[in-house]
Amino acid sequence: MLNPPAYKTLLKEDPVYYVQEVLAESKFKPDESQKEFLRATNEEIILCWSRQSGKTTSAAVKLTHRVMTTSGLQVLIISASQRQAGIMQSIVRQFVLMAQKTVKKWRIVKEFEMHEDPLDDNSKMIKCNAMALEIGNGSEVISVPAKEDTIVGYSPDIIAIDEAARVPDAVYYAILPMRAAHPCQLILISTPNGQRGFFYEEWHENRRPWLKRMVTAHDCPRISKEFLTQERNAVPRDIFEQEYECSYLAVAGSLFTPEQIASMFTTRPEEQAIADSMATDQLADTVAWRTAPIGQQLDALFSRYLDAMQGTQ
Ligand SMILES: Nc1ncnc2c1ncn2[C@@H]1O[C@H](COP(=O)(O)OP(=O)(O)OP(=O)(O)O)[C@@H](O)[C@H]1O
Ligand SMILES: [Mg+2]
Repeated sequence: MLNPPAYKTLLKEDPVYYVQEVLAESKFKPDESQKEFLRATNEEIILCWSRQSGKTTSAAVKLTHRVMTTSGLQVLIISASQRQAGIMQSIVRQFVLMAQKTVKKWRIVKEFEMHEDPLDDNSKMIKCNAMALEIGNGSEVISVPAKEDTIVGYSPDIIAIDEAARVPDAVYYAILPMRAAHPCQLILISTPNGQRGFFYEEWHENRRPWLKRMVTAHDCPRISKEFLTQERNAVPRDIFEQEYECSYLAVAGSLFTPEQIASMFTTRPEEQAIADSMATDQLADTVAWRTAPIGQQLDALFSRYLDAMQGTQ
């Protein structure tokens, strides 16, 4: 048996040990990917995980561990909808309550008697409502849905965005300045939702020193091969690939792929030459041109453009 200070240090430094000791009664038994996530201290973490791989639960456990073992920490959880924010908060609440129960038991079971609280000095939950809870050590967990007007005004130490691929870009870009004035861990967790938005971009473009991890359903020990075989035959192929194999699909319902759309905005060399010659054209300098209604200006430009295009063929 470790002495209480050493035990307390270990619980604080190793979230996986904390789960085994403090959340032993929960059904949550972290798999290898979850253990790595629980232990990750990187300032920026992006997880692209399959549906039902344990994203929300492991984030809730990670955040519970942090607030229960550190004083004065503010944790902000952003979820794609009000309903999901409520679910996430209720999972955190359950883990916090379980941790408190364990500590109480330790005090009464002789074998585990401690002279000192093995968690923080004051690990009781002192305030709790549907969307926020506060621990006696001054740490708090606040859950908010992804709306621009609800997320301003916080200076959190940890920001976790669940189902990030479904959170609007405007919300993400309103969140980022919260990290400007002090260190703040940023955690993005999601299953892909098309080739668009900040989650897709952050995953593909190395804008930050992310710890990046992908977990497909095939990698998740709680999702059986039989289930996946059945689903593969039952749902459209691209949906299966998105939900279980973490594939970023061309945006659903779009007539064109992102590559096709990008090519529409790429100027061909001959078109560029015409545009350049028109820009220096005398036409734009005449008084008649400048005072003409916009419709007439466009007509004139368009007919000159057609003439020029014919000249190149
Ligand atoms: N390590 C684990 N041990 C036992 N059960 C787990 C573990 N991780 C997750 N679960 C259970 O698996 C189920 C799915 O977990 P969770 O909701 O966290 O996954 P998710 O990836 O967020 O799912 P979704 O894609 O639907 O949002 C839940 O019932 C959860 O309790
Ligand atoms: Mg989830």
